[in-house]
Amino acid sequence: MPKPRTTYVCSNCGANSSKWIGRCPSCNEWNTYAEEVTVKKKEKFLTQSSSARSEPELISQISTEKENRIDTGISELNRILGGGLVPGSVVLIGGEPGIGKSTIALQVGLSMRGFKTFYISGEESSRQIKLRADRLGVKSDNCYILCETMLETILATLHNSSPDILIIDSIQTIQTETIESSPGSVTQVRESTASLLKYAKKSGTPVFLIGHINKEGGLAGPKVLEHIVDVVLQFEGDHNNMYRILRASKNRFGATSEMGIFEMQGNGLREVLNPSEILITNHDEKLSGTAISATVDGARPLLIEVQALVSSAVYGTPQRSATGFDLRRLNMLLAVLEKQAGFRLGAKDVFLNIAGGIRVSDPAIDMGVIAAILSSSTDRAIPREICFAGEVGLTGEIRPVARIEQRISEAEKLGFTKIVISSHHKKSLTHLNPHIEITFAGKVQYLFRSFFKK
Ligand code: TYD
Ligand code: MG
Repeated sequence: MPKPRTTYVCSNCGANSSKWIGRCPSCNEWNTYAEEVTVKKKEKFLTQSSSARSEPELISQISTEKENRIDTGISELNRILGGGLVPGSVVLIGGEPGIGKSTIALQVGLSMRGFKTFYISGEESSRQIKLRADRLGVKSDNCYILCETMLETILATLHNSSPDILIIDSIQTIQTETIESSPGSVTQVRESTASLLKYAKKSGTPVFLIGHINKEGGLAGPKVLEHIVDVVLQFEGDHNNMYRILRASKNRFGATSEMGIFEMQGNGLREVLNPSEILITNHDEKLSGTAISATVDGARPLLIEVQALVSSAVYGTPQRSATGFDLRRLNMLLAVLEKQAGFRLGAKDVFLNIAGGIRVSDPAIDMGVIAAILSSSTDRAIPREICFAGEVGLTGEIRPVARIEQRISEAEKLGFTKIVISSHHKKSLTHLNPHIEITFAGKVQYLFRSFFKK
């Protein structure tokens, strides 16, 4: 029996040390070291594998033709994965508790027709999973449930019944006998993932791993977890809101710019195929303080409603608050308005909200934010058929943004009659013949002059 070894492992990056350290020298995080007692049993096949030889292949002779993709039964998920599931790939799905990771995993398990799917849960009982499946209302004869946390037992079961798709909910509950530390610890997570990866590559079975996230929003467990898997998908969204965004933050088989929007309903997650139509509320009457921005998230154009409320400050220090938008950027835009357009907002409360509970980081939303603020401040509504796409610089100039043609065509598709963009795009858009009126703006003053001046 090998002697137990006590090591201290950083729960953030996975670095280890023989003694406890307050601050991790590798990732500079404080108080992340935790004690782990490991008894690593000698692997039997070590001598065998060292004697086995593998032949190198000429790169020009490696065939790439037959990379067939497997349909997951959820078209948004297929798109995020880069066109479907790749055999033998390991997909890690991360997200906050209660966001819908288990729901989407079970939906995949139930909706993949013609595939034998294995849903291994270490968190819920089979009865709970059955209740959830009833709630989802999808019937399947190919979905098997196993409630097990021991990696060796799982691998033995897999060996006997070789499923086509494997789902593990969650990787933090799985533990291996070879290491004597508590489940969820860095070493356990790392070893279990490595073994499952080995299984996936050897058998060609795609594996979905569900992962918890830590309080900073990163995937719990060491960074190495993200390094070893093929695809990392992050579930984002607001609990109070029904929309959820699934985003690829790493994808060895496709673009990471892909994202999909889902709506949590009473019977599971439903794909939102026309997000722009949902994110824009249709008011009949004109309301001041709202502006529509033509943004792009990843590769996807999204028309989003920006809502602003500017009111006289009740307390000495005016409040500024932003939901779905960076507060520092809001402060910067307010400063630009003050300095460049002579707008005195210093004594006003400014509240900003992005409709639908979505977080936007695309700088093209700047012009929409400014327009919404000006609209609320002057109490003049912007006609509903107008949308904006442009970044605002510190000097007050409207800067060009990427994928402008995509934004224009999305606005056109949704029935907008006018889009305001940066005048820097004038030259590059000469070949375009859109049915939408394009207005070029050079400075923020232009917005004020054309829409809000009495
Ligand atoms: P769940 O998938 O259990 O979250 P996670 O595995 O990420 O922790 O999602 C649970 C939440 O989703 C819970 O608050 C209930 C809600 N929900 C619905 O609104 N509709 C449904 O059909 C299901 C299955 C769950
Ligand atoms: Mg869960």
